[in-house]
Amino acid sequence: MSKTKIVTIERHILEQQKNHPSATGTFTGLLYDMALSAKIIARETTRAGLVGILGASDDHNVYGERQQKLDIFADQTIFRINDHTGRLCAMASEEHEDIIAIPPHFDTGKYVLLYDPLDGSSNIDVNVSIGTIFAVHRKISGSAHGTAQDILQPGRRLAAAGYVIYGSSTMMVYSAGNGVHGFTLDPSVGEFLLSHENIRIPPTAMYYSANAGNEKYWTKGMQKYSRWLQGMDEDRKPLGHRYIGSLVSDFHRNLLRGGVFFYPGDMQDPSMPFGKMRLMFEAQAMAFLAEQAGGYASDGVGNILDLQPYSLHQRVPIIVGNRDLVEKAEAYIREYDHDWIEAYSPFRHKQPTF
Ligand code: AHG
Ligand code: MN
Ligand code: MN
Repeated sequence: MSKTKIVTIERHILEQQKNHPSATGTFTGLLYDMALSAKIIARETTRAGLVGILGASDDHNVYGERQQKLDIFADQTIFRINDHTGRLCAMASEEHEDIIAIPPHFDTGKYVLLYDPLDGSSNIDVNVSIGTIFAVHRKISGSAHGTAQDILQPGRRLAAAGYVIYGSSTMMVYSAGNGVHGFTLDPSVGEFLLSHENIRIPPTAMYYSANAGNEKYWTKGMQKYSRWLQGMDEDRKPLGHRYIGSLVSDFHRNLLRGGVFFYPGDMQDPSMPFGKMRLMFEAQAMAFLAEQAGGYASDGVGNILDLQPYSLHQRVPIIVGNRDLVEKAEAYIREYDHDWIEAYSPFRHKQPTF
């Protein structure tokens, strides 16, 4: 009998369940639903060039972005796998303007699922790694069907979050508040097997990740921060620059090797004055995972997990990775970007209307 313990997602949750009552059978099922969704989406991404699923659809999402066929396929897959299980009281997707109700003929449950079905869409047609991001909140309202109150919760209250990377291998990384754990899909048995237990971000960072093409639009503080990371203004070793253009892939590499990813405010683009990342579908999940792995995620002013969301599709500036590197960015912003902080503050403290 092989000495290596074969740990599936279910076995891992059940083992965690012993010492953490928060991981329940319902929760195991929800993670398994995400794993099944991942396997179906992975199958399509590896065949995308052969099954006519490449390219853009004729539709656009709420951000005005042209939806890729795989965006829509992934979105529909996650909805169909989760709509009938009785585990959820509502869903919300980056690709849908409003809350997605559980169909009336299905039971509802005590969790809310938020997801970015396909992250890194611009990379689909050029065979670069893409992903799926998901986050799970607990229902807090009294209504059987989830409401905005159940969805627009601060990241601090997340029950779980995770992502899938469709890359050289298909990996699922999640945390239920007890560390970050990575599972790699073994296609020969169709199971995600534990491959990276209790991931901790290395204390010494190797990389920084940002779209340097936007540098002229960043605030002065973020421009100085970027030069500092590159060792331009003082005698320090530069960090390597790696930018894939899929948040999931850039985040995952930094999680394993140490680093910082940032997508700051864009002072020229009125549609994205406070960055491109979506708080509910991308930033909250990454902030939760980063903190569980010993890192930190800031909007430039403070912890993203403490932000009270006011809108389902609000964007947020994000600097995420090694805590010392993220806090350095906050220091540059405090020193050089008073005008930006003043302009951002009313949005940062806006309250939801429910
Ligand atoms: P999505 O495909 O879900 O819209 O996400 C794309 C995001 C994120 O994955 C990535 O880090 C970022 O957009 C890249 O943006 P730029 O192309 O503007 O750098
Ligand atoms: Mn995305
Ligand atoms: Mn997306």
